[in-house]
Amino acid sequence: MTVSGAERGAMRRALELAATPGVPLGPNPRVGCVLLADDGTTVAEGHHRGAGTAHAEADALARAGERARGTTAVVTLEPCNHTGRTGPCARALVEAGVRRVVFAQADTNPVAVGGADTLRAAGIEVEQGLLADEARALNRTWTFAVEHGRPFVTWKLATTLDGRSAAADGTSRWVSGRAARLDTHRLRARADTMLVGTATVAVDDPALTVRDEHDVPLPHQPLRAVMGLRDLAPDRRVFDDRAETVLLRTRDPHEALAQLRARDRQHVFLEGGPTLAAAFLRAGLVDEVVAYVAPAMLGAGLPAVGDLGISTIADAFRPTVTDVTVLGADGPGEQPNVRFTMTPHRDSEER
Ligand SMILES: NC(=O)c1ccc[n+]([C@@H]2O[C@H](COP(=O)([O-])OP(=O)(O)OC[C@H]3O[C@@H](n4cnc5c(N)ncnc54)[C@H](OP(=O)(O)O)[C@@H]3O)[C@@H](O)[C@H]2O)c1
Repeated sequence: MTVSGAERGAMRRALELAATPGVPLGPNPRVGCVLLADDGTTVAEGHHRGAGTAHAEADALARAGERARGTTAVVTLEPCNHTGRTGPCARALVEAGVRRVVFAQADTNPVAVGGADTLRAAGIEVEQGLLADEARALNRTWTFAVEHGRPFVTWKLATTLDGRSAAADGTSRWVSGRAARLDTHRLRARADTMLVGTATVAVDDPALTVRDEHDVPLPHQPLRAVMGLRDLAPDRRVFDDRAETVLLRTRDPHEALAQLRARDRQHVFLEGGPTLAAAFLRAGLVDEVVAYVAPAMLGAGLPAVGDLGISTIADAFRPTVTDVTVLGADGPGEQPNVRFTMTPHRDSEER
C-alpha cells in the first residue's frame, strides 16, 4: 500500500468524524470521509449521520461542490456500490471527478460490495486497508453482523459469589449493586436489542428499557425481544409503549437471531435467564460475556446459567478475560461488585 503522510492523517481525522457523538445507533455503519487536495490540504469533510441521511462521501462531496474535482477521497469504509435510500457512492465519486480513493475497511455487505471495482473500472486510483483495524473496531458489531450474517451477542449476567442468579423463592431484585445496575444500563444503550426468555418476563416483569441515573428512560430505546413459546400476560411491562417489543416464538437460538437479523439488528444484549443463556452458550452463539459478581451468597436458588452439558472439570467453559473492573459501592449499604468482560473461545471464527 502506498499512502502519503497527509492521507494517513486524513484517515485518522475521518475515523474521528465517523465517531462524531450523537449519531443514532442504527442499521448503518459509522463512516467518515475527508477530501484532500494534491498539496495535502483538506478540501471538505463529511460523515454519515444515520440511516436515511447522506453517506459520508456524499456529505463531503456536497460540501466541496466543484472543488471535489481532482481530489483524493479518504474514507473509513469502501464506498458502496448500491442504490439504497441514497445513490451509490462509488458512482458519485466518479461523477465528481475524484482522482484517487483511499479507504480503510472493505465493505463485505452483500448489497453494497464492489465499490472498489467500480472506481478502478472508471480509472480512479484505489488504495485499501489503511487503518483498517481501527475502522473495524469503530463498527465492531456492524462488521460482525455483516461477516457472520447474524447479530453479535453479549450475554450479561448478575450473580452472587456462589453462582446464583435468583433466590429459592424466585426473587432476584437486586442481585447486584446500584453501580453495577447503572453500568448495565450504559451497556444496554450500546446494543440495539434486549433479549430475555419468557420466564424472566413472567417472573420478574422487567421493563427492559435503558434508563439514566435518575431512572428516566432514554429517548432512544433498543428493541425488546422475548423468546419462547408460551403466551404472556398482556399486563407485563415489556408490552408498555416505552419501546418496541417483539415476541420470538421459538426455542431455537439460531432462528431467533435470524428473525432479529431480518429486522436489521446487529447487537443483542442477552439478559437471561439461565435457561436461555445456556441455550445460547450450547449453540455457540455467545460472543461476549459480561458478568457482575456481587459479594453475596444464597446457598440455594437458581444457578447463574442452566445445564451446559458439562460433566467434568476439564470441559469447563472458560472464556478469556478481556477486562476486570471493580464497581465501587455507590451509596449507603452498598458493596463493591466486580465486572468481568470475557470472550468465549471459538473452535472456528466461522460460527
Ligand atoms: N441475575 C440475572 O442476571 C438474571 C437475569 C435474568 C433472569 N434472572 C432470573 O431467572 C429466572 C428465570 O429463569 P429461567 O431460566 O426460567 O428464564 P428464561 O431463560 O428467561 O426463560 C426460560 C423460558 O424460555 C423459553 N425458551 C426459549 N428458548 C428456549 C430454549 N432454547 N430452551 C429452553 N427454553 C427456552 C422457555 O419457555 P416457553 O415455554 O415459553 O418456550 C423457557 O421456559 C427469574 O427468576 C429471573 O429472576 C436472573
